[in-house]
Order: sequence, then structure tokens, then C-alpha cells
Amino acid sequence: MRNVDDSMDKNLFDFEVDQQAKTVVWGPESDLEGIQYDLNVIRGIPQGPLMEPSKVENLIDNFNARDSDVYICTYVKSGTTWCQQIVHLLRNNGELGDKSYSESIPWLEAATSPILSQWEATGHTVESIMETEGPRYFKTHANLQDLPGRSSANPKVIYVARNPKDVVVSLLHHAKDKPCFHFNGNFSKMLHYFMEGNCENGSWFKHVLDWYNESKQNPNVLFLKYEDMTADPPGAIKKIADFLEMDYTPELIQKVTEKSSLKFMQSNTVNAEMKKAGIKSHFRKGGAGGWVDHFNVRQSAAFDAVYRELMRGSGLTFNFGGDLVM
Ligand code: A3P
Repeated sequence: MRNVDDSMDKNLFDFEVDQQAKTVVWGPESDLEGIQYDLNVIRGIPQGPLMEPSKVENLIDNFNARDSDVYICTYVKSGTTWCQQIVHLLRNNGELGDKSYSESIPWLEAATSPILSQWEATGHTVESIMETEGPRYFKTHANLQDLPGRSSANPKVIYVARNPKDVVVSLLHHAKDKPCFHFNGNFSKMLHYFMEGNCENGSWFKHVLDWYNESKQNPNVLFLKYEDMTADPPGAIKKIADFLEMDYTPELIQKVTEKSSLKFMQSNTVNAEMKKAGIKSHFRKGGAGGWVDHFNVRQSAAFDAVYRELMRGSGLTFNFGGDLVM
């Protein structure tokens, strides 16, 4: 872990927690002067800048969700693409086939955006999705209350959560690698946005805890942790297959495990449309514990104090790498 960065003069331990919004005031506003991070606020939650609020709001309210739909839902940078690949392979007898994961499991909200849909919902529009017959599979980063069409159906949701320290590091790379965010900050600035819930998908704490609580009372929500999946990929794949009521053999599980490993995906899973747009892939380092190379000692201790405060009583813990569970 890095030594203390004294450019952050406010004492981070003087934080004030907003239990309702699940955020904290992390530092003086002046800390973010001159920093650009383009986002669009939709129903009070910051989202990517390529999302048009009115179109997404219309989708949230009017999408014709069905009980037979399956959503892969995450807070950004928590293993979404990995889970898409697993489900894509399970549906396809362990073969990648000729469709990319964004074609077979489009990001539903991205289908409203002419730019984003090119690589996130390839070949789909909202209209074509609305008319699709048979089982439909989607990716979403929706907060619980904003899942499109949630009021009209009870679809299946596979929710994947990852420890927030690795999420914020991954989020920094994501914001820097994708030109649309125009992000010009460093790790300390991204951490500031993250703790205040002013980054893509809003408060990590609210997103994860709302879906976790939903999973405890709704059998149609499967709550998985990224770190458990990396510890036992075949076990996670079987859990997903069981949840989706799919038949499988040991051979199929082995095939899916192999073709959804980070190593395999790094060299074989190319999103051609994303490449064309000059965007770096989702496959970076993976795993748990990479955060120690980014947090300094003070940031880490203050983060832990906030984390304990916001997670208290939830019964939910995460593995932060190196067997550190909290
Ligand atoms: P890092 O940036 O920490 O490496 P998402 O798909 O939600 O954007 O998540 C991206 C994160 O998941 C990245 O984390 C990426 O490396 C990791 N990831 C992608 N595919 C993976 C896989 N097959 N196994 C494990 N982690 C994977």
C-alpha cells in the first residue's frame, strides 16, 4: 500500500454518513476542482454519458418485462462480462458460436443509445427487443428500483457483486480507457467520486445492499460474489445453471469453465465493435486484492471505517483478497 498522500488535507476520518443515500462526504469539494468526469443523471443516479435520460426513463417505466426474462445485473466493474460469457456458453452447449456476448445478451438500457448499442447491444433496438419471442437475456446495471419493467413482471436476476475496493480501482481504468467520460483525474479523485456516490451507477453500497436484501426475499434473484466465483468457477457455473433450470453434464461445465476463464477471454473474446470504436477491452487483471497497489494507508483505513458503518447489520461481507474478509 502507498504512503499517505498529503495533498488531501481534510481529515478523512471526519466523515458524515448519509444512511439513506448510503454515501459519505469524503473530502472538500475543492479537491475536485478542475476534474472532469462526464455522466448523465437518470432518476437521481449518475450513469454513463452516452445514455439519454428521457429514453432510459421511458424504458424503465414502459418496458414489457416478462417473467421468463433473465437479467445479469451488476454495479459496474464487478464481473458483468464474465457472467455474460458464462450464460452465453451455457445456452450454446459450451460453444461461443457466431454471436458475441453483446449480441446474445445485450445491455438493455444501451439499446436506447445509437452509439453505445453498437458494442453493448449489437444488432438490437428497443423495438426489436420488445418484439422478441421466447426467452430474453439482458445485461443491466440498474439499481433495484430502476430495473426496466420491474413493476409488470418478476424476471430472473443474476446479481454479481465484487468487493468495492477492487471495484473502484477497476472503475478508474474504465473511466480513463473510455474517451466518452473525459475523466482527467487520478485514483484519489475517483475514490472521492465513488464514496460520494457521484460515479457511474451511484452509490455502490446502495446498489449492492438493495439487491442483496431483495435476493433474501425473492427466489428469482440469485446473489453471487465475484470473489467466490473466482475461487470456484465450476461451482459458480453450476449455481447459475441450476438457477436458470438448465441441464448440464460435467463436460459442459468443464467447457464453460475453460472458455470463460480470464485468460481465455483475454485472447479469444473480441468485441469487434468495441475495438472499432478504439475502446480497450473489459479484460484487465481481474482477481481480488489488486486495490493494495492504489490505496494509500490513510485512504484504506478511512474507507474501512465508512464501509463498516454503511454495511453494519446487513449480514453481507466480502473477500478483499489475501483472505481478508469483512
Ligand atoms: P479488473 O479491472 O479489476 O481487472 P465488468 O465486466 O463488470 O466491466 O467487470 C470488469 C472486471 O472483471 C475487470 O476487472 C476484468 O478484468 C474482470 N473480468 C473480466 N472477465 C473476467 C473473467 N473471465 N474472470 C475473472 N475476471 C474477469
